[in-house]
Amino acid sequence: MFKSIEWTDNHIRILDQTYLPGKEVYVDLYTEGQIWEAIKKLRVRGAPAIGIAGAYGLYLGISDISSPTFSSFWAEVQRISDYLNSSRPTAVNLSWALERVKNTLFAHKEEPLEKLKEIALKTAITIHDEDRRMCKQIGVHGLDIIPQKAQILTHCNTGGLATSEYGTALSVITHAHQSSKDVHVWVDETRPLLQGSRLTAWELQKAEVPAHIVTDSMAGWLMQQGKVDLVIVGADRVTANGDTANKIGTYSLAVLAKAHNIPFYVALPSSTIDMNLEKGADIPIEERGAEEITQIKQQVIAPKKATVYNPAFDVTPNELVTAFITEKGVITPNYSVKFSELMS
Ligand code: MRU
Repeated sequence: MFKSIEWTDNHIRILDQTYLPGKEVYVDLYTEGQIWEAIKKLRVRGAPAIGIAGAYGLYLGISDISSPTFSSFWAEVQRISDYLNSSRPTAVNLSWALERVKNTLFAHKEEPLEKLKEIALKTAITIHDEDRRMCKQIGVHGLDIIPQKAQILTHCNTGGLATSEYGTALSVITHAHQSSKDVHVWVDETRPLLQGSRLTAWELQKAEVPAHIVTDSMAGWLMQQGKVDLVIVGADRVTANGDTANKIGTYSLAVLAKAHNIPFYVALPSSTIDMNLEKGADIPIEERGAEEITQIKQQVIAPKKATVYNPAFDVTPNELVTAFITEKGVITPNYSVKFSELMS
């Protein structure tokens, strides 16, 4: 239907998400600088997708260098990787993908320079392909938690746009729909950047899944009225104990779900689990510009000089998560124990 990221003719082509849903604009990115900008500006966005873009960015960054020794090559690899990693701090998939390319290069440090470049590209392509397979499996495993008839509430965009294909939470929803389950989706619009109404509604429409857009503040009322059977969201980083960073507003949904005795699920590939961080308080939370709140499509909607706080993510404590849906299956508590088994 669409390709969020494509490796073609020695560069990447992305579907620029800032134009959606109005226009489907594909842009070609040839350098690490262009990829940094595309990640920063959310032209490419969603945790797995920025990891994939970052891995290609590292290859593109090193593809023209002609270092005489491995140590001078390695210094460049580190510099370009740090630069790409500085584009967005919260989703661990970016640093995970960059680390994976770096570790593979280091393991082959005896190889000649041109061979090392080939290895970097091959690793980026593998990360891309693996993500596709993981997202497909998330959809398949998620079928177990979706009743035959379900009203599902979701937040932000977790579909093919945010990944290589299929998505995470949206993969579960579309797989349920395709397997003839009677699903209807409440799509949170997801202020401030409207990933729900702009992107998720667009993807669900393409997949012909019945859905209504609602504003973020309507979730509690819908739950109180018995109109939500389950909540399912994606994640940007999950720590070793199951604390979950995701788009701002996710924590409020988890608290509301708990108050109304509604299951709250998080769907994610294992590349989003950060075993190096013990708990959610350790996760760096990105703060973005004031204009994302004071303007919509350059139309000013707040008083001039209004001061703004714009954290892009929040952290949901593990005890509010009913289960995680991963490519390896559905994981219920105790998360610390089960994640260390899964990740080993
Ligand atoms: O700021 P964004 O749009 O990149 O935030 C994305 C999210 O929060 C998604 O829910 C998350 O990355 C999971 S996507 C598969």
